[in-house]
Amino acid sequence: MPLDIVLGAQWGDEGKGSITDLLAENANMVVRFSGGDNAGHTVTVGDQTFKLHLIPSGIIHDGTMCLIGNGVVLNPAVFLRELGGLKERGLDTSPNRLKISRNTHLITPAHIALDTAKEAARGDGKLGTTLRGIGPAYLDKVGRAGIRADLLEKPEELDAAIRAHVEAHNMTLTKIYGVDPLDADSVSAEFQEHARNIAPYLADGSVMIDRALKAGELVLAEGAQGTMLDVDHGTYPFVTSSSPTTGGVITGLGVGPGHIRNILGVAKAFSSRVGSGPFPSELFGDEAVRLRGTGANPWDEFGTTTGRPRRVGWLDLVVLEHAVRINGLTEITLTKLDILSGLKEIPVCVAYEIDGKRIEHLPLDLPTLEKCKPVIEVLPGWDEDIMQATKPADLPENAIKYVQYVENYLGVKVNRASVGPERDQNVDF
Ligand code: GDP
Ligand code: IMO
Ligand code: MG
Repeated sequence: MPLDIVLGAQWGDEGKGSITDLLAENANMVVRFSGGDNAGHTVTVGDQTFKLHLIPSGIIHDGTMCLIGNGVVLNPAVFLRELGGLKERGLDTSPNRLKISRNTHLITPAHIALDTAKEAARGDGKLGTTLRGIGPAYLDKVGRAGIRADLLEKPEELDAAIRAHVEAHNMTLTKIYGVDPLDADSVSAEFQEHARNIAPYLADGSVMIDRALKAGELVLAEGAQGTMLDVDHGTYPFVTSSSPTTGGVITGLGVGPGHIRNILGVAKAFSSRVGSGPFPSELFGDEAVRLRGTGANPWDEFGTTTGRPRRVGWLDLVVLEHAVRINGLTEITLTKLDILSGLKEIPVCVAYEIDGKRIEHLPLDLPTLEKCKPVIEVLPGWDEDIMQATKPADLPENAIKYVQYVENYLGVKVNRASVGPERDQNVDF
């Protein structure tokens, strides 16, 4: 059986968690392949809402196997806290059904201190990171100085590695950024404790996935972040430090591309972005509040991880064309279609313009992208509340037309629209 992939097609927070939860019903295994606890995935089931950062959304389905793949950077303290919270709510979080690849890299307090110090030093030019230590952890990984989860099974080696790691980063923290050093003794003691708690969860993730696929099981890869935050294909340097795209699935899990069946891009029916960086279709003032909400609804546009208000704008089809191409998307789910209800007209960005010249593909260099003005096409809106819709016939004609417009523009099937945060608030086409 195949590997299906769920990815963010925009700047993250597209609703990947709720769509993964929906598809996990039929999956034997749900796996994370990139990012860390910079992710915040919301899953709403009845009166229960789960906010997951590291643990795959499949954990909510009894009996579904979950794996944190090697492409993830894992903060052990956050992992254990999240595990404890889910256990308290009655979920099975035992090592029988949740594993971490041994070659996953760990985030340490030194990475978090560095993330904070670097952002402070950038001043007005800050990236707006989640301050979770993501960038410094990936930097150590590719710099061949990282600490991998397999050391959690080797306490003495772990102790030596953590001490050397803290001492090395203390030099940077104190000499370059002028901030206080960390205490190697206490970080080492903290990691020895984590090691005892986490060692039973370690496994060879690539072998686990291979076994599942050979046994005819369905493996579902749950993306974090989004295509526009990809370190290669996003709005560099205003990106995260990993590959949340299809390429990242292969390296982030240790699985061959031949197993892939569906590559589902999740896109909001409008656009949002947290943190700094270019956003051609961005709105401000009242128009922005209309899409963002004020925080009165749980789904309003405030970050799941940091609580920051998200920047919002009209749907950008140049961005989605980029996501289709970079990922080889085979289908698209449009989320939050309900938020557009009540708008008389719905503008969508269909191209960019610089000095009168029309641009159809996302420019990758920042100065050019920053000069891009959106070329807007206006589609007719609808008045009806669509949050109870369960089939296409329940949707107003103009809502269907909006979906069809996206489908025709991109040449990729829109297989579903979400009309609310819950599992049953989906319309399949
Ligand atoms: P993720 O990071 O991609 O998993 O997305 P987040 O969980 O960070 O943000 C998506 C937010 O939108 C969450 O609050 C979801 O509960 C909510 N949500 C998802 N789909 C829909 C939808 O179709 N309509 C509405 N109103 N909310 C949705
Ligand atoms: P999910 O999985 C939205 C953004 C940060 C910042 C940039 C770099 O919930 O969609 P980092 O801490 O990764 O170094 O920050 O990336 N970012 C996200 N934005 N959703 C996410 O995850 C994000 N993960 C990182 O806001 O702009
Ligand atoms: Mg999120």
